[in-house]
Amino acid sequence: MQRLTNKRIILGITGGIAAYKSAELTRLYKTAGADVRVVMTPAATEFITPLTLQALSGNPVHTALLDPEAEAGMGHIELARWADLIVIAPASADFIARLKSGMANDLLTTLCLASDAPLALAPAMNQAMWRSTQTQSNVFDLLQQQVVFWGPDSGEQACGDVGPGRMLEPGAIAQLSAELYTTKLLSGKTVFITAGPTREAIDPVRYISNHSSGKMGYALAVAAVEAGAKVKLISGPVILPCPERVERVMIESAEQMLASVLEDIDACDIFIGCAAVADFRPAHQAEQKIKKGSSDTISLLMSKNPDIIATVAQRTHKPFTVGFAAETENMQEYARGKLEQKNLDLIAANDVSNTEIGFNSDENALTLISDKQQLVLEQASKAVLAQQLIRHIALLMTQRIDP
Ligand code: C5P
Repeated sequence: MQRLTNKRIILGITGGIAAYKSAELTRLYKTAGADVRVVMTPAATEFITPLTLQALSGNPVHTALLDPEAEAGMGHIELARWADLIVIAPASADFIARLKSGMANDLLTTLCLASDAPLALAPAMNQAMWRSTQTQSNVFDLLQQQVVFWGPDSGEQACGDVGPGRMLEPGAIAQLSAELYTTKLLSGKTVFITAGPTREAIDPVRYISNHSSGKMGYALAVAAVEAGAKVKLISGPVILPCPERVERVMIESAEQMLASVLEDIDACDIFIGCAAVADFRPAHQAEQKIKKGSSDTISLLMSKNPDIIATVAQRTHKPFTVGFAAETENMQEYARGKLEQKNLDLIAANDVSNTEIGFNSDENALTLISDKQQLVLEQASKAVLAQQLIRHIALLMTQRIDP
């Protein structure tokens, strides 16, 4: 099965006998690397206990909209924003009707209304209820609103009927969930991504570096692989594991990063410079550990590091080149300046004066600036922003080839 590494999934369970299968689905999501939060309607708790789902998901189970204890942990709006994907399995006829009507009379419908995450439903109900004009009309309306339906399957039902209305098997739902993240947007393309900080050695034990966590670059590597690209991730020292299906090269200094980038640059179709490359390095690296000595001050002569992205963008056959600009003031003006000076195709600007997002955080907000267009990506998880950025790059590339 495909992976769902770091995907944040809300698994909604509504009242139906198929609810017992959601325990297995929770386990499969966890095995695939997802972070799962289960939300149950009161009727669902009649079929399977929240305790079972809590043990399998490793997270508290949410059951009520007005639960002060749960709200103190993760409030319903926070939960709605947290999700990368909402899957309702099983989705009862009643739930589908309430969702279609835009009701928010329990936690699960409220979350669906409040979240921008993709929403997928695995219906499960008696075959006559599924085939009824009301349910079919509700399903039709929800399909128009981009709600995804998985199933139902046809066959023998718990009530003894035979026909459409069986919930898809957990394995099939988990597989379909993973496939949601696979697009063909960048298939056949090779993407190089630089990520993390660089370390510039002063002596054998000391270095100059910065606080970059590498999270944005790594999220981009995942998003690019999911879009079908071949990805080389040139990473400074970070504590993140190598994403699946990504070729990772670990480096320390800016000069090593440049060498690794240039090694097979001819194969590169898209270059994304996400690394926080140190602008300067100590001009001389001491061979032995520098001693404290008696002086109260010490001078360090610094040399300018190569500008990796500018070097790539100067090439005659340059890849589609995307830079990042972390700014504390005049964000758009400075970012546009870098776009032009470094000959980039696109720059993703973020305001690092807002300490809640950016560098070490799991969230960010970006403004994508190209020569003619500007697109604001509102605050979201780095995983979501990475997918949006990859989609935008794919779009700009098609516009370029086919104006
Ligand atoms: O000039 P500044 O560091 O703000 O530019 C940011 C962009 O340039 C980022 O995409 C960063 O990865 C890239 N960069 C680089 N090599 C450097 C400095 C920055 O590739 N030496």
